[in-house]
Amino acid sequence: MDLHFTGARATPAERDAVDRVLGSPSSDPLGASARRERRHLLLPVLHAISERAGWISGGALNYACERLSVPPAEAYGVASFYDLFSTTPRPPVVLHVCDDIACRCAGAEDLCAALERVCGAAGSATAGQSATWLRAPCLGLCDRAPAALLATAGDSPAYRRVAPATAESLLSSLGSAPAGNGTAAEPLPYVGGTHVRLLRRVGSVDPESLDAYRDAGGYAALRRALEIGAERVVDEIVASNLLGRGGAAFPTGRKMQAVARAAGRTRYLVCNADESEPGTFKDRVLMEHDPFAVVEAMTIAAIATGCERGFVYVRGEYPQAARRLQAAVDAARRAELLGGNVMQTGLRFDVEIRRGAGAYICGEETALFNSLEGKRGEPRSKPPFPVDAGLFGMPTLINNVETLANLPAIVLEGGARYAKTGTPGSTGTRLFCLSGCVTRSGVYEVEHGVTLGALIAMAGGVRDGATLRTVLLGGAAGSFVGPEALDLRLTFEDARAAGATLGSGVVMLFDDRTAMPDVVRRIARFFRHESCGQCVPCRVGTVRQAEVLERIAGATASPGDVALLDEIGRVMRDASICGLGQTAANAIASARTLGLLEARA
Ligand SMILES: Cc1cc2nc3c(=O)[nH]c(=O)nc-3n(C[C@H](O)[C@H](O)[C@H](O)COP(=O)(O)O)c2cc1C
Ligand code: SF4
Ligand code: FES
Repeated sequence: MDLHFTGARATPAERDAVDRVLGSPSSDPLGASARRERRHLLLPVLHAISERAGWISGGALNYACERLSVPPAEAYGVASFYDLFSTTPRPPVVLHVCDDIACRCAGAEDLCAALERVCGAAGSATAGQSATWLRAPCLGLCDRAPAALLATAGDSPAYRRVAPATAESLLSSLGSAPAGNGTAAEPLPYVGGTHVRLLRRVGSVDPESLDAYRDAGGYAALRRALEIGAERVVDEIVASNLLGRGGAAFPTGRKMQAVARAAGRTRYLVCNADESEPGTFKDRVLMEHDPFAVVEAMTIAAIATGCERGFVYVRGEYPQAARRLQAAVDAARRAELLGGNVMQTGLRFDVEIRRGAGAYICGEETALFNSLEGKRGEPRSKPPFPVDAGLFGMPTLINNVETLANLPAIVLEGGARYAKTGTPGSTGTRLFCLSGCVTRSGVYEVEHGVTLGALIAMAGGVRDGATLRTVLLGGAAGSFVGPEALDLRLTFEDARAAGATLGSGVVMLFDDRTAMPDVVRRIARFFRHESCGQCVPCRVGTVRQAEVLERIAGATASPGDVALLDEIGRVMRDASICGLGQTAANAIASARTLGLLEARA
């Protein structure tokens, strides 16, 4: 393949950033096709350039493309796909300010207005050209709303969370470089509930110490899994009736059986840690505060299904989770809990941590595979399903972080015993992310079957004793329910029967003072922005839907707009390729049914 480059050249710093990922040019494989085998490193390379220079220049892209033998036009298509990257010059300090729904309820618009007054419109550089601020979708910090993430590029790139944010803290963060990389001074997340199993180590066991993890019972499950053998592990998971926690509720055991059956072929394990559904932050809490549990669970899944290589795809806005996971992987490797001889059994499994770069669609499993392969994160048509042809075209087991986190308990206590918790259709416990107008935001772990009202009561009810107007269940792809749904039992089957979904575990409260048309408009804007544009119903539908919501929120809607919303929703649901388009109208339709779009006197 002939590659055509512009004359732009990388700076020494940009070359160094690329070389740190790919090694020195003298180590490049001979021949373009061998170099192209490393295409999956394109995203880590783009991260390295962006973190060093603050943006991705034409020269840096040329250099990366030469090294990987990728056409620059294609690499540009990848770089421009992701929100965290910029292909035009940008100051080294970028403050990402969440203006999504939970943060809106906590005054995010006032914060953005203050930034606009002092620093200019979003995207403009501050005096001295050293910093800028941008609006961002949910940063997965809804428990500490309003939230912002400060990213500083340079020789020692750094990230710092500013949450809960005030106008003063945001302005001062733009004026000065962040002090260090750590989040040591950050408060622990609030975790609660009635059956605290997955969360039991959060806040009480040092997430950076393998010894502490082992002292707290860690790695007993992997030992047991190795004793009982791969087939029995899969049998126990089938018996547990564990359903996936990433949103689609697919039986985990069935996926594992399918991948295990592909013996003789290279198989991959992927942990989906993209967690970009607005209102969701449970996976972040698990990864940041119990990272060894994620690594151990992945090892169990891999040994049971014959995968020798695993990836964790962590959303780009979670630098702390990626760092903690990387440290856990390194420690596990040193202790021979990963690598070529797992627990001296001769079995092989290793894990790589890969970071997303700001694209909600990359949580969709096939978009995620494309992203990992160094392509634009666009969903593939299914079938083939991942268990047959997933990452690099090979059988792949992909599971959500929380789903995987259940495996150690299933192995230790046995699938049948695990299945006694919850209901027959919804076994085990569930993590719920409570946020919005609630007294104690946080992650709550309860047995499936607890009612919505009881869960909200655990979190102290509606903030300031206000009256509950509605609850968003399951995230932006979920739906609003009214106070009459407080008796709803939180199970997959009860939610389905009520026309709702537990989705990714979002329970976001809105009181009767919230401007709901504005909240719903933000959801419509979110889908318009996140649609990958690959298929027409979603690409056009999300734009038209957002336009109608703008009119409704601005009180300029015409009588035909409601019928138009219904029609757009139907077309997107029926004709979109992937779950994004199929669910982009759900919350909006439920808001309409509940009368939330009507202005209140
Ligand atoms: C637009 C979209 C975004 C998604 N985002 C996530 C995500 O962030 N995390 C996740 O685990 N699953 C996400 N999913 C679901 C995945 O496609 C897939 O079903 C899941 O990773 C399977 O894991 P599970 O069986 O353990 O739930 C998303 C799906 C869609 C359509
Ligand atoms: S439904 Fe939307 S996000 Fe999914 S493939 Fe089509 S355009 Fe892309
Ligand atoms: S962090 Fe702002 S809505 Fe989630």
